Amino acid sequence: MYEIGKREIDAVAKVISSGMMFRYRGGEGGWCDKFEEAFAKTIGTKYALSVSSGTGALECALIAAGVRPGDEVIVPAFTFIASPLAVLAMGAIPIIADVDESLALCPKSVEANISRYTRAIMPVHMSGRPCDMSALKRIAKRRKLVIVEDACQAAGGSYRGKRLGSIGKAGGFSFNQFKIITAGEGGAIVTDDLTGYDKALIHHDGGCVFRKHADKVSTPFFAGTNFRASEITGAILCQQLKRLDGILRRLRARRAAIRAELAKAKAFRLSPCNEDAGDCGVSVPILFETVKEMRAFLKRHGHKAPFWMGTPIDTGRHVYPNWTPILKKHGAFDPKADPYRIHAHRQISYSKDMCRKSLDILGRTIALGVPYDSTVADARQAARALARL
Ligand SMILES: Cc1ncc(COP(=O)(O)O)c(C=O)c1O
Repeated sequence: MYEIGKREIDAVAKVISSGMMFRYRGGEGGWCDKFEEAFAKTIGTKYALSVSSGTGALECALIAAGVRPGDEVIVPAFTFIASPLAVLAMGAIPIIADVDESLALCPKSVEANISRYTRAIMPVHMSGRPCDMSALKRIAKRRKLVIVEDACQAAGGSYRGKRLGSIGKAGGFSFNQFKIITAGEGGAIVTDDLTGYDKALIHHDGGCVFRKHADKVSTPFFAGTNFRASEITGAILCQQLKRLDGILRRLRARRAAIRAELAKAKAFRLSPCNEDAGDCGVSVPILFETVKEMRAFLKRHGHKAPFWMGTPIDTGRHVYPNWTPILKKHGAFDPKADPYRIHAHRQISYSKDMCRKSLDILGRTIALGVPYDSTVADARQAARALARL
Protein backbone atom coordinates (compact mmCIF):
# COMPACT_ATOMS: atom_id res chain seq x y z
CA MET A 1 0.00 0.00 0.00
CA TYR A 2 1.38 3.40 -0.93
CA GLU A 3 -1.23 5.98 -0.01
CA ILE A 4 -4.51 5.86 1.88
CA GLY A 5 -6.18 8.40 4.15
CA LYS A 6 -9.02 10.79 4.79
CA ARG A 7 -10.57 10.55 1.34
CA GLU A 8 -11.01 6.79 1.71
CA ILE A 9 -12.21 7.11 5.32
CA ASP A 10 -14.84 9.69 4.30
CA ALA A 11 -15.99 7.59 1.37
CA VAL A 12 -16.39 4.49 3.55
CA ALA A 13 -18.24 6.53 6.16
CA LYS A 14 -20.66 7.67 3.46
CA VAL A 15 -21.33 4.09 2.40
CA ILE A 16 -21.98 2.97 5.94
CA SER A 17 -24.21 5.96 6.72
CA SER A 18 -26.24 5.20 3.61
CA GLY A 19 -26.90 1.69 4.94
CA MET A 20 -26.37 0.28 1.44
CA MET A 21 -23.21 -1.80 1.26
CA PHE A 22 -24.51 -4.17 -1.43
CA ARG A 23 -23.94 -2.99 -4.99
CA TYR A 24 -27.29 -4.21 -6.27
CA ARG A 25 -30.89 -3.85 -5.10
CA GLY A 26 -30.52 -0.19 -4.35
CA GLY A 27 -26.75 0.13 -4.70
CA GLU A 28 -26.92 0.49 -8.50
CA GLY A 29 -25.23 3.57 -9.86
CA GLY A 30 -23.13 3.62 -6.69
CA TRP A 31 -19.44 3.31 -5.96
CA CYS A 32 -18.76 0.01 -7.75
CA ASP A 33 -20.42 1.31 -10.91
CA LYS A 34 -18.49 4.57 -10.68
CA PHE A 35 -15.23 2.74 -10.13
CA GLU A 36 -15.83 0.46 -13.11
CA GLU A 37 -16.53 3.38 -15.38
CA ALA A 38 -13.43 5.26 -14.23
CA PHE A 39 -11.20 2.17 -14.27
CA ALA A 40 -12.24 1.20 -17.81
CA LYS A 41 -11.43 4.76 -18.87
CA THR A 42 -8.05 4.67 -17.12
CA ILE A 43 -7.04 1.33 -18.59
CA GLY A 44 -8.55 2.09 -21.99
CA THR A 45 -11.02 -0.76 -22.33
CA LYS A 46 -14.72 -0.74 -23.08
CA TYR A 47 -15.62 -2.72 -19.98
CA ALA A 48 -14.39 -3.18 -16.43
CA LEU A 49 -15.97 -5.31 -13.74
CA SER A 50 -15.12 -5.08 -10.04
CA VAL A 51 -14.62 -8.39 -8.31
CA SER A 52 -13.54 -9.45 -4.85
CA SER A 53 -9.97 -10.57 -5.65
CA GLY A 54 -7.28 -10.74 -8.30
CA THR A 55 -7.69 -14.49 -8.43
CA GLY A 56 -11.39 -14.01 -9.18
CA ALA A 57 -10.46 -11.43 -11.80
CA LEU A 58 -8.15 -13.92 -13.52
CA GLU A 59 -10.87 -16.58 -13.54
CA CYS A 60 -13.28 -14.09 -15.08
CA ALA A 61 -10.63 -12.98 -17.59
CA LEU A 62 -9.98 -16.57 -18.66
CA ILE A 63 -13.71 -17.11 -19.16
CA ALA A 64 -14.01 -13.80 -21.03
CA ALA A 65 -11.15 -14.86 -23.32
CA GLY A 66 -12.91 -18.11 -24.17
CA VAL A 67 -10.59 -20.50 -22.34
CA ARG A 68 -12.31 -23.84 -21.84
CA PRO A 69 -11.73 -26.97 -19.74
CA GLY A 70 -8.82 -28.99 -21.08
CA ASP A 71 -7.23 -26.01 -22.84
CA GLU A 72 -3.60 -25.39 -22.02
CA VAL A 73 -2.61 -21.95 -20.78
CA ILE A 74 1.05 -20.94 -20.69
CA VAL A 75 2.06 -19.22 -17.45
CA PRO A 76 5.48 -17.98 -16.33
CA ALA A 77 7.69 -19.83 -13.83
CA PHE A 78 7.79 -16.62 -11.77
CA THR A 79 4.35 -15.44 -10.70
CA PHE A 80 2.16 -15.77 -7.66
CA ILE A 81 0.57 -19.24 -7.51
CA ALA A 82 -2.83 -17.54 -8.05
CA SER A 83 -2.11 -17.30 -11.80
CA PRO A 84 -1.93 -21.07 -12.40
CA LEU A 85 -4.62 -21.68 -9.77
CA ALA A 86 -7.07 -19.53 -11.73
CA VAL A 87 -6.27 -21.58 -14.82
CA LEU A 88 -7.02 -24.83 -12.95
CA ALA A 89 -10.20 -23.39 -11.46
CA MET A 90 -11.48 -23.04 -15.03
CA GLY A 91 -10.70 -26.70 -15.75
CA ALA A 92 -7.76 -25.67 -17.91
CA ILE A 93 -4.16 -26.84 -17.55
CA PRO A 94 -1.30 -24.49 -16.64
CA ILE A 95 1.88 -25.07 -18.65
CA ILE A 96 4.91 -23.51 -17.03
CA ALA A 97 7.34 -21.59 -19.25
CA ASP A 98 10.60 -19.83 -18.41
CA VAL A 99 11.08 -16.18 -17.63
CA ASP A 100 14.00 -14.27 -19.13
CA GLU A 101 16.31 -11.71 -17.54
CA SER A 102 13.49 -9.17 -17.53
CA LEU A 103 11.84 -11.55 -15.02
CA ALA A 104 8.87 -11.79 -17.38
CA LEU A 105 7.58 -14.56 -19.62
CA CYS A 106 10.25 -15.52 -22.18
CA PRO A 107 8.76 -15.49 -25.70
CA LYS A 108 11.13 -18.27 -26.86
CA SER A 109 10.04 -20.49 -24.01
CA VAL A 110 6.39 -19.75 -24.79
CA GLU A 111 6.97 -20.96 -28.38
CA ALA A 112 8.68 -24.09 -27.12
CA ASN A 113 5.75 -24.91 -24.84
CA ILE A 114 2.94 -24.55 -27.36
CA SER A 115 1.11 -27.78 -28.06
CA ARG A 116 -1.93 -28.52 -30.17
CA TYR A 117 -3.99 -27.95 -27.02
CA THR A 118 -2.66 -24.51 -26.16
CA ARG A 119 -5.39 -21.89 -26.10
CA ALA A 120 -3.92 -18.96 -24.21
CA ILE A 121 -0.78 -17.23 -23.04
CA MET A 122 -0.88 -15.53 -19.65
CA PRO A 123 1.84 -12.86 -19.43
CA VAL A 124 2.27 -11.66 -15.85
CA HIS A 125 3.57 -8.12 -15.37
CA MET A 126 5.37 -8.88 -12.11
CA SER A 127 6.14 -5.87 -9.90
CA GLY A 128 4.56 -3.66 -12.54
CA ARG A 129 7.25 -4.56 -15.09
CA PRO A 130 5.78 -4.92 -18.58
CA CYS A 131 6.25 -8.21 -20.43
CA ASP A 132 7.53 -8.24 -24.00
CA MET A 133 4.02 -7.82 -25.36
CA SER A 134 5.08 -7.28 -28.98
CA ALA A 135 6.81 -10.64 -29.15
CA LEU A 136 4.00 -12.38 -27.28
CA LYS A 137 1.35 -10.81 -29.51
CA ARG A 138 3.24 -11.95 -32.61
CA ILE A 139 3.33 -15.50 -31.29
CA ALA A 140 -0.34 -15.40 -30.30
CA LYS A 141 -1.34 -14.15 -33.73
CA ARG A 142 0.74 -16.70 -35.63
CA ARG A 143 -0.37 -19.64 -33.44
CA LYS A 144 -3.99 -18.45 -33.10
CA LEU A 145 -3.86 -18.08 -29.33
CA VAL A 146 -5.45 -15.54 -27.01
CA ILE A 147 -3.60 -13.43 -24.47
CA VAL A 148 -4.97 -13.08 -20.96
CA GLU A 149 -2.90 -10.57 -19.00
CA ASP A 150 -2.23 -10.97 -15.33
CA ALA A 151 -1.86 -7.30 -14.47
CA CYS A 152 -2.51 -7.94 -10.77
CA GLN A 153 0.71 -6.17 -9.78
CA ALA A 154 0.65 -3.60 -12.57
CA ALA A 155 -2.25 -1.14 -12.25
CA GLY A 156 -1.42 1.87 -14.43
CA GLY A 157 1.64 0.36 -16.14
CA SER A 158 1.83 0.47 -19.91
CA TYR A 159 3.53 -0.96 -22.97
CA ARG A 160 3.97 1.07 -26.15
CA GLY A 161 1.22 3.49 -25.21
CA LYS A 162 -1.34 0.92 -24.09
CA ARG A 163 -2.11 0.28 -20.46
CA LEU A 164 -1.21 -3.16 -19.18
CA GLY A 165 -4.32 -5.31 -18.97
CA SER A 166 -5.78 -3.78 -22.14
CA ILE A 167 -3.42 -5.42 -24.64
CA GLY A 168 -4.74 -8.98 -24.60
CA LYS A 169 -8.28 -10.26 -24.94
CA ALA A 170 -8.85 -9.70 -21.21
CA GLY A 171 -6.86 -8.65 -18.17
CA GLY A 172 -7.08 -9.15 -14.43
CA PHE A 173 -6.05 -6.81 -11.59
CA SER A 174 -5.67 -7.30 -7.86
CA PHE A 175 -6.29 -4.62 -5.27
CA ASN A 176 -5.12 -6.58 -2.27
CA GLN A 177 -3.09 -4.88 0.44
CA PHE A 178 0.23 -5.15 -1.40
CA LYS A 179 -0.81 -3.72 -4.74
CA ILE A 180 -0.29 -0.27 -6.28
CA ILE A 181 -3.83 0.77 -5.41
CA THR A 182 -5.68 -1.20 -2.79
CA ALA A 183 -8.86 -1.79 -0.84
CA GLY A 184 -7.25 -4.47 1.33
CA GLU A 185 -8.80 -7.05 -0.99
CA GLY A 186 -10.40 -6.64 -4.38
CA GLY A 187 -9.91 -7.02 -8.10
CA ALA A 188 -11.12 -6.08 -11.53
CA ILE A 189 -11.35 -7.62 -14.95
CA VAL A 190 -11.11 -5.51 -18.11
CA THR A 191 -11.95 -6.38 -21.72
CA ASP A 192 -13.22 -4.85 -24.95
CA ASP A 193 -15.37 -7.86 -25.70
CA LEU A 194 -19.05 -7.60 -24.77
CA THR A 195 -19.71 -11.34 -24.77
CA GLY A 196 -16.60 -11.89 -22.66
CA TYR A 197 -17.72 -9.18 -20.26
CA ASP A 198 -21.18 -10.72 -19.99
CA LYS A 199 -19.67 -14.12 -19.25
CA ALA A 200 -17.50 -12.56 -16.53
CA LEU A 201 -20.59 -10.82 -15.18
CA ILE A 202 -22.50 -14.08 -14.93
CA HIS A 203 -19.57 -16.01 -13.46
CA HIS A 204 -18.80 -13.43 -10.78
CA ASP A 205 -22.39 -13.18 -9.54
CA GLY A 206 -23.82 -16.64 -9.08
CA GLY A 207 -25.85 -16.42 -12.25
CA CYS A 208 -26.30 -12.69 -12.33
CA VAL A 209 -29.50 -12.85 -10.36
CA PHE A 210 -29.13 -9.57 -8.52
CA ARG A 211 -28.37 -7.31 -11.39
CA LYS A 212 -31.18 -5.06 -12.58
CA HIS A 213 -30.29 -5.35 -16.22
CA ALA A 214 -29.76 -9.12 -15.97
CA ASP A 215 -32.32 -9.65 -18.73
CA LYS A 216 -30.13 -7.64 -21.11
CA VAL A 217 -27.13 -9.96 -20.80
CA SER A 218 -26.29 -11.32 -24.25
CA THR A 219 -25.14 -14.76 -23.10
CA PRO A 220 -27.35 -17.53 -21.71
CA PHE A 221 -26.96 -17.83 -17.94
CA PHE A 222 -24.75 -20.54 -16.53
CA ALA A 223 -23.95 -21.48 -12.96
CA GLY A 224 -21.33 -19.06 -11.70
CA THR A 225 -19.91 -18.29 -8.28
CA ASN A 226 -19.61 -15.19 -6.07
CA PHE A 227 -16.82 -12.70 -6.60
CA ARG A 228 -19.06 -9.66 -6.09
CA ALA A 229 -17.42 -6.48 -4.83
CA SER A 230 -19.07 -4.49 -2.05
CA GLU A 231 -19.83 -0.78 -2.08
CA ILE A 232 -17.18 -0.37 0.63
CA THR A 233 -14.57 -1.77 -1.73
CA GLY A 234 -15.95 0.32 -4.58
CA ALA A 235 -15.81 3.50 -2.47
CA ILE A 236 -12.20 2.92 -1.44
CA LEU A 237 -11.16 2.10 -5.00
CA CYS A 238 -12.80 5.22 -6.42
CA GLN A 239 -10.54 7.26 -4.15
CA GLN A 240 -7.49 5.08 -4.74
CA LEU A 241 -7.88 5.45 -8.49
CA LYS A 242 -7.67 9.23 -8.12
CA ARG A 243 -4.29 8.70 -6.47
CA LEU A 244 -2.94 6.30 -9.13
CA ASP A 245 -1.21 8.83 -11.41
CA GLY A 246 0.43 10.53 -8.45
CA ILE A 247 1.62 7.23 -7.00
CA LEU A 248 3.11 6.18 -10.34
CA ARG A 249 4.79 9.58 -10.83
CA ARG A 250 6.43 9.33 -7.45
CA LEU A 251 7.55 5.72 -7.91
CA ARG A 252 8.87 6.37 -11.40
CA ALA A 253 10.87 9.45 -10.40
CA ARG A 254 12.63 7.46 -7.68
CA ARG A 255 13.12 4.44 -9.90
CA ALA A 256 14.71 6.57 -12.63
CA ALA A 257 17.11 8.19 -10.16
CA ILE A 258 18.08 4.82 -8.69
CA ARG A 259 18.58 3.20 -12.09
CA ALA A 260 20.71 6.07 -13.35
CA GLU A 261 23.14 5.52 -10.48
CA LEU A 262 23.04 1.73 -10.45
CA ALA A 263 23.82 1.65 -14.18
CA LYS A 264 27.38 2.70 -13.23
CA ALA A 265 27.92 -0.28 -10.89
CA LYS A 266 30.62 -2.84 -11.59
CA ALA A 267 29.46 -5.61 -9.24
CA PHE A 268 26.13 -6.09 -11.02
CA ARG A 269 24.03 -4.81 -13.89
CA LEU A 270 20.47 -3.62 -14.17
CA SER A 271 18.03 -6.34 -15.18
CA PRO A 272 16.74 -5.56 -18.67
CA CYS A 273 13.33 -3.95 -18.86
CA ASN A 274 10.87 -4.51 -21.72
CA GLU A 275 9.69 -0.92 -21.57
CA ASP A 276 11.22 1.65 -19.34
CA ALA A 277 8.50 4.28 -19.67
CA GLY A 278 5.69 1.84 -18.89
CA ASP A 279 7.31 0.25 -15.83
CA CYS A 280 5.28 1.11 -12.72
CA GLY A 281 8.48 1.76 -10.77
CA VAL A 282 7.77 -0.57 -7.86
CA SER A 283 11.21 -2.15 -7.81
CA VAL A 284 14.60 -2.11 -9.48
CA PRO A 285 15.96 -5.61 -10.09
CA ILE A 286 19.72 -6.05 -10.45
CA LEU A 287 21.50 -9.05 -11.88
CA PHE A 288 24.77 -10.66 -10.81
CA GLU A 289 26.99 -12.99 -12.84
CA THR A 290 26.68 -15.86 -10.38
CA VAL A 291 24.48 -16.98 -7.50
CA LYS A 292 27.56 -16.87 -5.29
CA GLU A 293 28.24 -13.23 -6.12
CA MET A 294 24.63 -12.30 -5.45
CA ARG A 295 24.58 -14.06 -2.08
CA ALA A 296 27.93 -12.58 -1.05
CA PHE A 297 26.73 -9.06 -1.98
CA LEU A 298 23.53 -9.50 -0.04
CA LYS A 299 25.39 -10.83 2.99
CA ARG A 300 27.91 -8.00 2.98
CA HIS A 301 25.65 -5.08 2.10
CA GLY A 302 22.03 -6.18 2.45
CA HIS A 303 21.60 -5.01 6.02
CA LYS A 304 23.06 -1.52 5.47
CA ALA A 305 21.22 -0.66 2.28
CA PRO A 306 18.48 1.92 2.78
CA PHE A 307 16.40 -0.04 0.27
CA TRP A 308 14.35 -3.06 0.91
CA MET A 309 16.33 -5.81 -0.85
CA GLY A 310 14.55 -8.99 -1.82
CA THR A 311 15.66 -12.08 -3.68
CA PRO A 312 13.00 -13.27 -6.14
CA ILE A 313 14.18 -16.86 -5.78
CA ASP A 314 13.17 -16.73 -2.09
CA THR A 315 9.66 -15.40 -2.63
CA GLY A 316 7.94 -18.69 -1.83
CA ARG A 317 4.84 -19.28 -3.87
CA HIS A 318 5.93 -16.75 -6.48
CA VAL A 319 8.39 -19.33 -7.81
CA TYR A 320 7.08 -22.50 -9.47
CA PRO A 321 9.00 -25.16 -7.44
CA ASN A 322 6.92 -23.98 -4.47
CA TRP A 323 3.60 -24.49 -6.27
CA THR A 324 3.22 -27.82 -4.47
CA PRO A 325 -0.41 -28.67 -5.41
CA ILE A 326 0.41 -27.97 -9.04
CA LEU A 327 3.70 -29.87 -9.13
CA LYS A 328 1.87 -32.80 -7.51
CA LYS A 329 -1.03 -32.36 -9.92
CA HIS A 330 -3.60 -32.09 -7.17
CA GLY A 331 -5.78 -29.96 -9.38
CA ALA A 332 -8.93 -29.78 -7.24
CA PHE A 333 -10.42 -30.70 -3.89
CA ASP A 334 -11.47 -34.10 -5.24
CA PRO A 335 -10.01 -36.28 -8.03
CA LYS A 336 -13.43 -36.28 -9.72
CA ALA A 337 -13.15 -32.52 -10.16
CA ASP A 338 -9.44 -32.53 -11.05
CA PRO A 339 -8.69 -31.01 -14.49
CA TYR A 340 -5.52 -33.11 -14.76
CA ARG A 341 -7.69 -36.26 -14.58
CA ILE A 342 -10.86 -35.25 -16.32
CA HIS A 343 -9.99 -32.57 -18.85
CA ALA A 344 -6.29 -32.82 -19.81
CA HIS A 345 -5.81 -34.02 -23.38
CA ARG A 346 -2.34 -35.37 -22.67
CA GLN A 347 -0.12 -36.45 -19.82
CA ILE A 348 1.42 -33.38 -18.21
CA SER A 349 4.53 -33.63 -16.08
CA TYR A 350 6.12 -31.02 -13.89
CA SER A 351 9.32 -31.13 -11.89
CA LYS A 352 11.16 -28.78 -9.57
CA ASP A 353 13.96 -28.27 -12.08
CA MET A 354 11.88 -28.04 -15.25
CA CYS A 355 12.61 -24.31 -15.73
CA ARG A 356 16.34 -24.17 -14.99
CA LYS A 357 16.85 -20.95 -16.89
CA SER A 358 14.30 -19.23 -14.64
CA LEU A 359 15.87 -20.65 -11.49
CA ASP A 360 19.30 -19.48 -12.63
CA ILE A 361 18.09 -15.94 -13.39
CA LEU A 362 15.94 -15.59 -10.28
CA GLY A 363 18.83 -16.98 -8.23
CA ARG A 364 21.19 -14.24 -9.45
CA THR A 365 18.75 -11.36 -9.02
CA ILE A 366 18.19 -8.93 -6.17
CA ALA A 367 15.09 -6.72 -6.36
CA LEU A 368 15.44 -3.34 -4.68
CA GLY A 369 12.18 -1.93 -3.43
CA VAL A 370 11.75 1.67 -4.61
CA PRO A 371 11.63 3.80 -1.42
CA TYR A 372 8.31 5.60 -1.79
CA ASP A 373 8.76 7.87 1.20
CA SER A 374 12.34 8.98 0.43
CA THR A 375 13.07 12.11 -1.52
CA VAL A 376 14.43 11.61 -5.03
CA ALA A 377 17.75 13.07 -3.85
CA ASP A 378 17.99 10.58 -0.98
CA ALA A 379 17.09 7.68 -3.24
CA ARG A 380 19.74 8.80 -5.73
CA GLN A 381 22.39 9.16 -3.06
CA ALA A 382 21.67 5.73 -1.61
CA ALA A 383 21.84 4.18 -5.06
CA ARG A 384 25.14 5.95 -5.73
CA ALA A 385 26.58 4.42 -2.57
CA LEU A 386 25.36 0.98 -3.57
CA ALA A 387 26.82 1.31 -7.07
CA ARG A 388 30.25 2.06 -5.64
CA LEU A 389 30.39 -1.18 -3.62
C1 LIG B 1 0.80 -11.78 -10.08
C2 LIG B 1 -0.40 -12.03 -9.23
N1 LIG B 1 -1.45 -12.69 -9.75
C3 LIG B 1 -2.56 -12.92 -9.04
C4 LIG B 1 -2.68 -12.51 -7.73
C5 LIG B 1 -3.92 -12.81 -6.96
O1 LIG B 1 -4.52 -11.68 -6.43
P1 LIG B 1 -5.45 -11.77 -5.11
O2 LIG B 1 -4.55 -12.01 -3.95
O3 LIG B 1 -6.12 -10.45 -5.05
O4 LIG B 1 -6.40 -12.89 -5.34
C6 LIG B 1 -1.62 -11.83 -7.13
C7 LIG B 1 -1.72 -11.38 -5.74
O5 LIG B 1 -0.83 -11.35 -4.97
C8 LIG B 1 -0.45 -11.58 -7.90
O6 LIG B 1 0.58 -10.95 -7.39
